[in-house]
Amino acid sequence: ESGVALIKAGTLTTCTHLPYAPFQSKDDSGKVVGFDVALIDLVATKLQVTQAIVDTPFEGIKSGADLNSGKCDVAAAGMTITDERKKVLDFSDPYFDATQALATPTGKEVKTLEELVGRRLGVQGGTTGEDYIKTQVKEKNLKIEVVSYKDLAALQQALATNQVVAAVNDLPVWNEYIKANPGKVAVAAGFDTGEQYGFAVKKGNAALLKEVNAAIAAAKSDGTYDKIYAEWIGE
Ligand code: ARG
Repeated sequence: ESGVALIKAGTLTTCTHLPYAPFQSKDDSGKVVGFDVALIDLVATKLQVTQAIVDTPFEGIKSGADLNSGKCDVAAAGMTITDERKKVLDFSDPYFDATQALATPTGKEVKTLEELVGRRLGVQGGTTGEDYIKTQVKEKNLKIEVVSYKDLAALQQALATNQVVAAVNDLPVWNEYIKANPGKVAVAAGFDTGEQYGFAVKKGNAALLKEVNAAIAAAKSDGTYDKIYAEWIGE
């Protein structure tokens, strides 16, 4: 008995926002898989329960609404730890480092935001990438038309169909997209935002947070983390 209270007995319910490969996405059979899924599976195994994944908009995840309302026990969504989110969520220890990247169609690389003045730039709504771009555009007073898409698939679709000339999202997500769609898209520029991903629990759920942190630490020390990294992220 771990002493961890779960919203549904025998189940560790995880909120995520699909798709976000390689962290969480559906495989050909419709099963949700990925880097985050594999790490949270370690927590579930430790608690002797099964992970069940709920796909829900990112807004409800990052605002704490889903965890507070009992929709899920844990949030695992390639989610960056930020001071603002820390006010409404309790984050695990960091489990992944990320930066923002600007992707364009291959052959149409744009290296700076200045080159996007008067053009359309896509971002994913509610994300740190959207925040970063909106702040830059404001500070530098750049007349870029920033278009927010509801999820990663919509953003990538907009780029593929030239609705936008460039799109911003987390670098590992573009790397994965390029692996899956070789030759179509290039990472034209990077923004070193120094982000770290954390899993989140409802504020005050120290018992579950302890298990999540213990699972991350154990995976890092026994080689499981490296195996999961090699499987989902690559070299
Ligand atoms: N890392 C970024 C953030 O925290 C993007 C996360 C989006 N995750 C997702 N599963 N859709 O804002």
